[in-house]
Formats: sequence, structure tokens, C-alpha cells
Amino acid sequence: MKLLTVALLVLAGTVWADIEFDVDVEQHMDKLVRQRYPIEDNKENRESVRNYIIERMRYYGLDVKEQRFNTTINTDPRGIGSEQIQVQGTNVIGINKAVTQHPGAVVVVGADYDSDGTSDPMFYNGAGVAALLEVARLYAFNEGWSGRLVANYTTIFVAFDINTKLYESSPGYPGGHFFVKEWLWPFIQRNPDYFGGAVILDSVLNVNYEERSQFLDADFGTMFPESYERIEGGNFKGDFLAMVSSGNSEATETLKDQFSGNYYKGRKGERFRLEDLQLRTGMNFDDMVKRFVKSENIHFWSFKDDTNTTVPLPAILLTDTGSFRNLPPNCDTCHPMDMLTEERTEFVEATIKATTNFLFKRQATLLPETDSAVSSLPSAIMTALMLCLVRLYM
Ligand SMILES: *[C@@H]1O[C@H](CO)[C@@H](O)[C@H](O)[C@H]1NC(C)=O
Ligand SMILES: *[C@@H]1O[C@H](CO)[C@@H](O)[C@H](O)[C@H]1NC(C)=O
Ligand SMILES: *[C@@H]1O[C@H](CO)[C@@H](O)[C@H](O)[C@H]1NC(C)=O
Repeated sequence: MKLLTVALLVLAGTVWADIEFDVDVEQHMDKLVRQRYPIEDNKENRESVRNYIIERMRYYGLDVKEQRFNTTINTDPRGIGSEQIQVQGTNVIGINKAVTQHPGAVVVVGADYDSDGTSDPMFYNGAGVAALLEVARLYAFNEGWSGRLVANYTTIFVAFDINTKLYESSPGYPGGHFFVKEWLWPFIQRNPDYFGGAVILDSVLNVNYEERSQFLDADFGTMFPESYERIEGGNFKGDFLAMVSSGNSEATETLKDQFSGNYYKGRKGERFRLEDLQLRTGMNFDDMVKRFVKSENIHFWSFKDDTNTTVPLPAILLTDTGSFRNLPPNCDTCHPMDMLTEERTEFVEATIKATTNFLFKRQATLLPETDSAVSSLPSAIMTALMLCLVRLYM
């Protein structure tokens, strides 16, 4: 017991006053292993997942908004049946607020929390949501509680609902459309200069070191010759995270540089890497790229303002390329969490760390370390709390 007291006190004194950087993706993942396609059968699970996201975001200290919208889906996720129904979706938005009146100030991190009804709901896109929550937790915690970081600019964490673009033959608008057009645009006062960019996490768990596990078609080599050469050189392993962007505006280039810089920071010989896939006009899109433009990044890239003028907003899509990379065959006797192997955990954690560091650098200022009790008030409170706990249990 003495030892425990000492351990707790040391913990309270040091860890809480410093940057918290222990990624724990597993804590969220088992909440995200079941279907969330918006039909009656999944109603209960959808609600419980939504409530979990809301509860977590509140707990992390974010200001949480629920944006409801109506849209139309096909009740058959395979798109074979033809019954269409109107459904209500809810985007969950967590805001870490700071001064916004500054060029490039507002940054969005987002992931879909529904599922397409046919693919594995943990990979598509449970892992993206788990990553989103971990980035939110690490950022908000260090910004709010440890007192080591002060936010200069507003960061928005959004869990999108109902991405109809990824369903088979569902005609309604997806959640991302409503978010950008009806929520974000007024939030940035209809001025693209206030927007820094979005990071979209869509399918970020599956790394595969087997040869020939990555599928590319012929047009890929024409579009991205350097990436093609590297992937071919490794005999088509699925050993990279794709960073997909559109165009070469200054804001887009900055966003990409800042993210990739943080992806490679502090690496220790990991076997995976980042592939920079930049879409340009005039490209002959292959099937993979056609899939990329169904993720939520498309609502930023091709945003239209109130007069229907296109105002491209910077965004990057982070993805393992989804169904273009082999997944092990379904195992009926396995628990879904068995799929969360060490290799995959390491892969998704690298994305979480890179995104969090990107926010630390871009959105906040790191204050100099100090031992003064006044400046580390939250730390002092935690020490007191822990002392109480120790008393209680002794
Ligand atoms: C969605 O539709 C319902 C009824 O069909 C309506 O009551 C509600 O106001 C609509 N919500 C939005 C956000 O348009
Ligand atoms: C960010 O906020 C900190 C603390 O309020 C301040 O010292 C710093 O000058 C700000 N940086 C920018 C770039 O506004
Ligand atoms: C913008 O386009 C939409 C659909 O294409 C149309 O319904 C709407 O009236 C247009 N708005 C303006 C202001 O032109």
C-alpha cells in the first residue's frame, strides 16, 4: 500500500504536468464492431454508438453539438432491393474553441461512424472513429487539463453519419454534405480564408505485409508513377497509408507538408510509410480514386457556396485504400477484436500520433515547463484527488 501511495503521487506529480501521449485505441474499438447501417435492425446499436461518441467527447471537455439531417437511403445495403426510405442522421460535432478570426485558423478532423451494411464495420470505419476519439482525447486533454498547451485556433472533431455515397444506390445527400454546407460554412463566417483544412480518417487499420496484397489497376501507374514504382518495388504489399489530396493550392500543400512531417517524426524503423497521392484535373480516375472521392473529403474539395460558385476547401484523406487491400478471410469463430493485431494497432497508432502532433503544432502553443503550483493548477487538483483516493482505499 505504501508503494501504491508513492506510485500514485509520483504519477500525479509528473505525468499530469507533462504531455500525455499514451495512445489506447482498443478502449473504443469493441464499441465499434457491429453494423451501423441506418435501418431498423441497427437502430439500437447506432444509438448506443452515437451516445458513446457524445459521452466521450463531452468527457474530453469538448463543446458537443448534434447536427440532425434527413436523407434517403435504400433499405437494402447491397442495392438489390428497391425500397427507399427517409431516415434521420446525426453528425456529432465536438468543438475545442479558441480565437477563430485568423487566416487558416479552423481545422477539422473527421470520420464516418455509420457502416455500409456489407463491409466489416470495425475496419470500415470503426477504426477511423476510434482514431478520431483518441486524437480528440489527446489534444483536448493536453490543451485543457495538463496546462502545457494553449489553443490558439479552433479545432473541430466530427463523427459523420450516413455516408450515402458509400452505400449501393442510396440517392440522398450524405452527412458530410450537410456538415460542410450547413454547419461549417456559417461557422467560418462564409470565408474560406478562416479555414485551415480537414483531415478525414476513412479506413485506417488494415496494414498488410504480404506480397500481392495491394491491388492497383493500370491507370494508377499513370496517375502516380512514383508511388507505383515504390509499391511495385515491394511486390505490391499493403504496407502504406495513403494521403490523398486534390489540387495544389498553397493551403493544400501546407496541410500535406504539416501532416507528413508529423507522420515521419520520431519514427523507429517502422515497416510502413505514407504515400502522397495528389489528384489533379485531367486525370483518368481509376476505380480506387473513384472510391476516394466518395469519402467525406469530397464535400470540402468541391464545396459550392450559396451562389453555387465552387470554393475548394483544403482536405486530406487518410486511408489504407479499403477494399483494394486484402483482408484475411472472415473467421466465424473469431471475436472481432482478434482482428486488432499488434501490427494493425501499431499502424493506426502512427496515424493517431501524427494527427495529434499536427494539431499540437498547428493549433496550439506549448508553454514552457514550470514547477510553479499556480500554473499547473489542474495538476495540483489531480494530486489532491489522488490523495483522497488513496485515503479511501487504505
Ligand atoms: C426531418 O423530417 C422530420 C419529419 O419527416 C421533420 O419533423 C424534421 O424537422 C426533419 N428534420 C430536418 C433537420 O429537416
Ligand atoms: C497563442 O497563444 C499563446 C497563449 O495565449 C500566446 O502566447 C501566443 O502568442 C499565441 N500565438 C499565436 C500565433 O497567436
Ligand atoms: C444551385 O444549384 C442547385 C442545384 O443544382 C439549385 O437547386 C439552386 O437553385 C441553385 N442556386 C442558385 C442560387 O443558383
